[in-house]
Order: sequence, then C-alpha cells, then structure tokens
Amino acid sequence: MCGIVGYIGPQAAVPVVISGLRKLEYRGYDSAGIAKINPDSGKFEIQRAVGKLINLERKLSDADHAPHERLNVAMGHTRWATHGSVTERNAHPHVSMSGNIAIVQNGIVENFLELKHDLQAEGVVFTSETDTEVIVQLVEKFIHAGSDFEKAVHMALAQLRGSSAVVLLNLAEPGTMIAARLGNAGGVVVGLGDGEVLVASDVPGVLECTRKVLFLDSHEVVIAKVGDVKVRRLNGERVNKEVHTIAWDPVAAEKGEYRHFMQKEIFEQARAITDTIRGRVDFEQGKVLLEGMKAGPLPRKIFSIGMGTSSISTMIGKFMIENLARVPVEVDYASEFRYRDPLITPDDVVMGITQSGETADTLAAMQEGRDKKARVWAIVNAIGSQAQRVSDGNITMRSGPEISVASTKAFTTSVVDQYLLACWLAQQTQHGLPHTAISDLMHLPGLVSKMLEKNNIYDDLANIFHLREHFLYLGRGINYPVALEGALKMKEISYIHAEGYPAGEMKHGPIALIDENMPVVCICIRDNVYEKMVSQVEQVRARHGTVIAVATEGDTDIAKKADHVIYVPECPPLLSPVLTAIPMQRLAYHMALRRGCDVDQPRNLAKSVTVE
Ligand code: F6R
Repeated sequence: MCGIVGYIGPQAAVPVVISGLRKLEYRGYDSAGIAKINPDSGKFEIQRAVGKLINLERKLSDADHAPHERLNVAMGHTRWATHGSVTERNAHPHVSMSGNIAIVQNGIVENFLELKHDLQAEGVVFTSETDTEVIVQLVEKFIHAGSDFEKAVHMALAQLRGSSAVVLLNLAEPGTMIAARLGNAGGVVVGLGDGEVLVASDVPGVLECTRKVLFLDSHEVVIAKVGDVKVRRLNGERVNKEVHTIAWDPVAAEKGEYRHFMQKEIFEQARAITDTIRGRVDFEQGKVLLEGMKAGPLPRKIFSIGMGTSSISTMIGKFMIENLARVPVEVDYASEFRYRDPLITPDDVVMGITQSGETADTLAAMQEGRDKKARVWAIVNAIGSQAQRVSDGNITMRSGPEISVASTKAFTTSVVDQYLLACWLAQQTQHGLPHTAISDLMHLPGLVSKMLEKNNIYDDLANIFHLREHFLYLGRGINYPVALEGALKMKEISYIHAEGYPAGEMKHGPIALIDENMPVVCICIRDNVYEKMVSQVEQVRARHGTVIAVATEGDTDIAKKADHVIYVPECPPLLSPVLTAIPMQRLAYHMALRRGCDVDQPRNLAKSVTVE
C-alpha cells in the first residue's frame, strides 16, 4: 500500500512530508523516497531508501530541516514490496528523462507496456522498471510538444488505463503541485493550510498542518498552489469542491470522508487489490513471485480452512487453484475440521485463511495440520499475527487495517491472494501458467474501481426492501460462495434473515419459500452456467418472487426478466467473484443504514474470535 504526501508552504518541506508519511505508516512499506526542489540550484534533490522510513530520514541533510525563505516544496512516497526488487531504483519519486518533472504514484497503469514501447521507440530512455515512470515521461513528451504543465498532465492521464493516484512537480513551475485520481486505487486528499497546501493519500497525512481538506473524486485533477487550488475533471471542466473540516476526534479523522469504516473499507478495495497484486506479478515475464512462500514439492492436496467470510473465501480459492494448478483442494470450516480426524498426509498442505490471524478455530485447524506433519500455509492480513508466525509459508492480504466488524476488503484481497497462489503453483507444474491468467489480473483493479462508482441503485433497493424479513441469494459455480457471502453480510449488519444457496438446489426444497414477499438476489453473469441461472430467474418470477439480478454489462435480456439489475463489467469468470462480491457488500451496507443499524459494530459480533 503506497502512501503519498506533497507540500508547498513556508515550513521546511522535507520534515513535513516525512511526518505525513509517518502518519500513513499503517499502510506499511518496504522502501521510501522524497523529492525536494532546491530553490538555489533550481533542481530536484531526490533521496530514496530501501526499508523503513527511518532509513530515508538517515539520508537527509541539515539543510533539509531548515526552511528556505523563498520556496519549500517536496513530495514523498512509501511503497510496498516489489517482487524481490525492493530497490532504490524502483522506489519513487521517478523523474522524466530531462530531470525536470517528478512523480509519485499509487496504482497500476494497465497499458504501461504498450506506452513504454512507444516511448522507447521515440528515444525515451527509462531508468526504472516501474509503470509510474511511463506517466512522467509522457508528461514530458507533451510539454516538449508545446503543452503547458497542466495540459500535459491531462493529456498523459487521458492515455492511461487502470486506476491510479499521482502527484507531479515541475521545475519550470516550482510553486505548482498537480495531483490526480483515476479510479479508486488511491485516494487524494488536498489539505488547505494557512499559507500552505498539501496533498496526501489519506487524511492523517495532512492533519499536522491543517484540518481543512477536500477530496478528489475519480477523474479529477487538482492544480495546487498556495492560496490557489483549482480542481478540474479530466475533460477540463472546472469542479467546485466542498471543503470539509476534519473533527479532532481521531476515529472521525481516520474515517475521513466516509460515514462508517465499512463504507471506507468497501471503497478502499481497488487500492487494496492493487497493493495485493503490485510487486508480486511480473507482467512482462508473465510470472508470479510470492515473497513469503518457499518453493517445494507441489502439494498432493490442499486443505483450505477458515471461518465466516474467510471460510467462504476458501470456497472461491478452490475453483482457482483446481482450475489453474490442477491441485485438489478440500475446504472446511476450521471449527469442524479437527473434530473429524481429517485424512491429512505429510504430502499435503493445510492452509488457514484469516484476516486477523488470531481466530482460535483456524489456528487449531492449522495445528492439526502441523500435528499430522503436513506443511502449513496461511493467508493473513494482520502482519505478525499468530497465523503468520506459525506457518511455513504465508501470503499477506495487504488490505490495511480492517476496522469494521463485517469483513469486506479482506475478503476480496484474500480471494486475489488465492488467485496469485493458484498462478504460483501452476508455474511449478508441467502444464505451466497460461499467459492470460496474468494479463487478466492486470485489469482487475480497474474493473473493481468501476464497481465502486456512484450508483443510486443500492439506495433505491434499500428504500424498497428495508422492511423485508427474509432474503434469498442464488449463485452457481464460482459465484455460489458469493451468494453465501451476500447472505452473510446481509444477516450480520442489517439483521435480516438471509440464505445463500447453489441455484441448482432450489427445486429440492428452498423454492417452497418463494412468494411475493421474497426478494431473491441472483448472480447471473455471463459464464458457463449463465443459461441455467437465467432459468432460475424465470422460476422465481413464476412464483411471484422479486428478482435482483447481478449481471454482465450489456446483458439487456436479463433486464426483461428481472425486477432490478446491478451490472458488473465483463471479466474472466475465475476473477468474477472479486467483482460480484461488491454489490453484495454495498447492498447490505445500504440496507443496514436504512434500517438504522450500527454498521461498524453489529450486535453480538466481535472482530476477532479468539475463543472456540
Ligand atoms: C464476517 C466476518 C467474520 C470473519 C470470521 C473469521 O463479515 O468478518 O465472519 O470472517 O470471524 O475471521 P478471521 O478472518 O479474522 O479469521
């Protein structure tokens, strides 16, 4: 998870930026960097260091700590691991070929290879392996062609596909900082101080200087000068932004522009997924590198276990691992696993999936694997947690702290982790990894970002259905677990009774529940079971149930059959649960809100269940 802070104002800029980055420390980092404009030489002074922020601080000089009477401008960045290459060379900021423009970025440029090859063909020499450098070289190209800084940034951003947050400085206009947000891979907060202006990826990064902030929406660009902050859409149109005053209460400050942590965490998913992928995938070579995993013999079988949402995640991972790596996966509730004397052999792996890394049942199931001499793997969010410590190999979710009791971003990142694991295992098989498996992943953050766009349908549905007492969720194949997750989210935060079923099971009993009072959420995206799901939709309608369909964009037929449709962009079926899970979360959130429930701390639940 990258953290970004930029500053222009009367204070010594470097310490302000470092202190802001420290406030974003919860995002974790493996390397950090800072660019300062030296007003005397008119050049950038750039420092980068591998490891914690303190390593970067050690490289700073006394001059960095003293304010200059004319100009104090700097921006900094903390970065998550990059596949083995946590190097200074790849740490941000990156500069254009002339050295005149600098950039920091959070996100993924999906079409960077294409753009890089075009720029190289025009003679641009790259000094890093990052996608970020492509953006700064593009900006320089447009400046050389006659555009001003602002126009050049707009033109460069218009060429990018994917989801990114960027900050740029230009020596030719040293008092101007330009920042932009494309999609939801990274937030951009602009801090409006007294005679100073800041940008950061989250509110805590600016709080030391100011509590007056504005938040960029997707496809907005801010041109920030002291006393003059303009926001435009990518098409050039001027936007008047609301200025928010952040409360002193640290919890409220952490929620930033959101009402609840759950809402914030839902909207962080494009960023969290970007961080989960970033640095673990070599898109050029088509390879996955998992820093916490040791290569070894392919497991005979993987026992994948978890509780609640994490257990549902194992069911999706089973499809991914079996499909890509052809390794059999058996899933179970951790609480059941050890009491059935599972047939584990030393050639197997027992893998615990756990956000907290402290769930008692999951830890006990992992111990069962250890006792039976199997290898033990973990997919965890909490760094340093018990599950991570006791495992032989682990993959972290990189979703950042999940505060809301209802799990959202840890669910989708754990699914992405299992996809990465499936690719990693497939690489070790004779049949290898299909190249499309990697390129599909590259587009995922952008698609997730689309799912997070403003959509009134969730509010409308909550208005229609908030007084219902029951909900049914249907899915098939890899989207059956998503139906389970939809029902779980609805139950836990809105206290509506909800059931998830594999759609084929309907005729064998649950169909008796359907009448005009039963809303049925049907996940019927275009995949190999699409026709079968459509026939389920028809059966529900025939019994006067109300259908809320989750369908693929462009599917107009479904709109004729269902009462309401939530569209998801077209995507490879194996990755589709990452997208279809988001309407489940957003619908449950809006229902809970409409019913006046305590969204972040639902009754009777705890974030981490450390007792059996
Ligand atoms: C549901 C939820 C819980 C957890 C479960 C396991 O929204 O959050 O069902 O998924 O308690 O927790 P972890 O993943 O920490 O082991």
